[in-house]
Amino acid sequence: MPNLLDLFDKTILITGGAGAIGRVVVDVLAAHGATVVVNDVLAAADARAVLPTAPNVRYIQADATDAVDVERLFAAMEQTVGLPNVVCCHTGMVGAYPVQEYPLDEFDSLMKLNVRSAFVISQAAAKRWIAAGTSGLLLFTTSWVMDVPWPEITPYNASKAAMKALMRGFARELAPHGIRANAIAPGIVAVGMAKRQWDTDPSYQSRARKAIPLGQMQTPESVAHAFLYLCSPLASYMTGSVLLVDGGCSLYPMDE
Ligand SMILES: NC(=O)c1ccc[n+]([C@@H]2O[C@H](COP(=O)([O-])OP(=O)(O)OC[C@H]3O[C@@H](n4cnc5c(N)ncnc54)[C@H](O)[C@@H]3O)[C@@H](O)[C@H]2O)c1
Repeated sequence: MPNLLDLFDKTILITGGAGAIGRVVVDVLAAHGATVVVNDVLAAADARAVLPTAPNVRYIQADATDAVDVERLFAAMEQTVGLPNVVCCHTGMVGAYPVQEYPLDEFDSLMKLNVRSAFVISQAAAKRWIAAGTSGLLLFTTSWVMDVPWPEITPYNASKAAMKALMRGFARELAPHGIRANAIAPGIVAVGMAKRQWDTDPSYQSRARKAIPLGQMQTPESVAHAFLYLCSPLASYMTGSVLLVDGGCSLYPMDE
């Protein structure tokens, strides 16, 4: 019987792939045979220092919000590993302020990274898949807070709701072309942006401690396993779906 988690026929692009969660996702996808192209803004030496050294992992520096840079990214991929068949819109940032104090320039930069980059990357992939007459899969990293008003990160919550809406729109419009789109919604992960807030903001930590029904922060591996499943043929009938992997965070009315 074939191993349905083998990804040897997949070429996967992931934005923000050198980040705390991304590098674990890259490791798991590459370990299952995929050719993984990691995009990030980090200098190549810094990215390579945190990425697996496997020959099926490549790095291309580019700003995922910038259409010209994204064209260059896809052109570089096509010249080396070919057109990706899975594209993961994974980069993102968070800022924490009460709504009445949230700086507007930070609102703009958050929306640009979280929402615009997902659109620019997905549009670039979709254009190429349609022109080539091939199918493709878009994966969007949202968050459990896309449906929950978790305090002090309201623009982030809104950006993840927008990404969910983008995912559903791409899924609906592009299904006739054989292009699917799904989202992964993690909870409170023990690395990256949530861990930074956990370590620096005592009020966040006390709220977060009460908000995880399974009682512990999420491992990045559990996020990577959701990516693995969605990239695999096991999920081939899924489109327009959100895979919520949040330890039950969304079951609670936040911090009560
Ligand atoms: N950490 C969590 O608890 C958590 C929970 C739910 C969802 N998420 C989501 O997971 C994703 C990764 O989060 P993380 O915690 O690993 O964050 P992170 O800050 O560790 O990683 C983000 C990466 O994006 C890169 N990046 C920044 N600007 C870029 C640009 N213009 N183009 C390309 N790359 C750029 C950064 O250099 C960094 O490597 C985000 O979308 C985040 O919203 C995280």
